[in-house]
Amino acid sequence: MITIALTKGRILRETLPLLAKIGIEPDEDISTSRKLMFATSRDDVRLLVLRGVDVPTYVQFGAADLGVAGKDTLMEHGGNGYYEPLDLRISRCRLMTAGIVGARRPTGRIRVATKYLNVARRYYAECGRQADVIKLYGAMELAPLVALCDEIVDIVDTGNTLKANGLAPREAIADISSRLIVNKGALKIKHASIQPLINQLSAVVQQGSG
Ligand code: PRP
Repeated sequence: MITIALTKGRILRETLPLLAKIGIEPDEDISTSRKLMFATSRDDVRLLVLRGVDVPTYVQFGAADLGVAGKDTLMEHGGNGYYEPLDLRISRCRLMTAGIVGARRPTGRIRVATKYLNVARRYYAECGRQADVIKLYGAMELAPLVALCDEIVDIVDTGNTLKANGLAPREAIADISSRLIVNKGALKIKHASIQPLINQLSAVVQQGSG
């Protein structure tokens, strides 16, 4: 059995067509089901539907052999116990710093709100800037407006959320897309079934961008 952990939401919607192209389709409509585990058109493949932040954990500990998660989530998680063999080139966006339009960044120590605690700490340290990083779980764009922070680190896609809240992007930290990850042990032990799957998905991604 091969277990694939998927990230629910937009990433899931963009992952399912890729899996369908290699003959893996859930046996019921994931979007209308309350179930979290799904059998598929392939007897030896099952799907888990998780919050993105949990996908690398499931794969790290081998509860799932493969996973699909955003690069932002993987950067934050730290990447123990799994390889990242394939960029699926879906759900593309950028991880950026942002602040109030026209506001100058204060000199000296600044306060940064984000759900990407590790990424933010690393980024500001690399830039040689002093930052106190505050963990939030959502609605980051609100934080500068009520002076919780000077700056946020968040995902920017269209930029509409920033704009709607009077914020502007400042610096790009990383280009983001969803990645396929694979448990290191599983790749060894189940190589004969997992490697072909990675190759097939890779071919589908190549076709899509070619
Ligand atoms: C993300 C991100 C921003 C928004 C950016 O949130 O946190 O709020 O998308 O997209 P935009 O640039 O196109 O406006 P998402 O809706 O993915 O939910 P989240 O708050 O759970 O991350």
